[in-house]
Amino acid sequence: MKKLSGKVAIVTGAARGIGRATALELAGLGADVAVHDLRNAAEAAEVVRAIEALGQRAFYFQGDVADRARDEALVAETVERLGRVDILVNNAGIGTRKPFVDLDPADVERTFGVIFWGVFHCSQFAARQMIRQGQGGAIVSISSVHASRGYATAADYNAAKAAINHLTRTVALELAPHGIRVNYIEPGWIDTPGEHEAFGDETIEREGKKLLMARLGRPEEIARGVAYLVSDDSSYVTGTCLRIDGGYVLPFGRYST
Ligand SMILES: NC(=O)c1ccc[n+]([C@@H]2O[C@H](COP(=O)([O-])OP(=O)(O)OC[C@H]3O[C@@H](n4cnc5c(N)ncnc54)[C@H](O)[C@@H]3O)[C@@H](O)[C@H]2O)c1
Repeated sequence: MKKLSGKVAIVTGAARGIGRATALELAGLGADVAVHDLRNAAEAAEVVRAIEALGQRAFYFQGDVADRARDEALVAETVERLGRVDILVNNAGIGTRKPFVDLDPADVERTFGVIFWGVFHCSQFAARQMIRQGQGGAIVSISSVHASRGYATAADYNAAKAAINHLTRTVALELAPHGIRVNYIEPGWIDTPGEHEAFGDETIEREGKKLLMARLGRPEEIARGVAYLVSDDSSYVTGTCLRIDGGYVLPFGRYST
């Protein structure tokens, strides 16, 4: 019997990057998976096929996490097609990357719509379903090292990630009596399609070598952290952070003296 046999997971933003790796990791451990994404339908279909090849059930759900009605439908359709919801991974995220003085409030609202409201809506609908089922559950949000440190040109993103960290701690308090554990992961710099689009291959190659471990993290290295937080391996862990950053936040990195 695999670690997550009989469990059903929802992973948002699962067509590529960290979400894709997480969906595949959970399926490999025996979970059925709702593969949610706003776009990248072809990639999402490929993730569904890869999960089925692992012997698990999966389906693609197209939706924007910022859209509360779609999030409600995501949970309802997961129950309809896969029978229940035991695990929610709030992974979908975006950022604007502009200097603070140039930030358009509409862009900031969009970032908060996806990162903060997306986590709020999905977690609320999933928690209600888990409470109805009466068998506990696990919620993990993919935050960022940006939540606890300021990084320039990411004011909207940093603030939204900080908001979900504190939301997580509060929700963990309220859901503990229902056996639902709620945690977040702070990845460092992870090698994903989104990062290549934002920075370009050359910058990633050059800057990656300057990191403490001389490389970016791999999506699978975050996925394994998610697997820990949603399985019984972490049965006494709630309301906290698992930072998987290759030492990114250590002072002065590898050049400290
Ligand atoms: N890659 C990193 O260095 C890094 C570091 C820290 C945190 N994170 C966080 O990890 C998560 C995944 O990042 P990634 O690098 O894999 O990104 P990515 O851009 O490679 O993939 C993100 C996926 O989410 C989907 N998505 C975007 N907005 C959505 C929405 N509104 N509704 C549904 N799906 C949506 C995209 O279509 C895409 O398929 C994000 O929350 C990001 O903030 C990433």
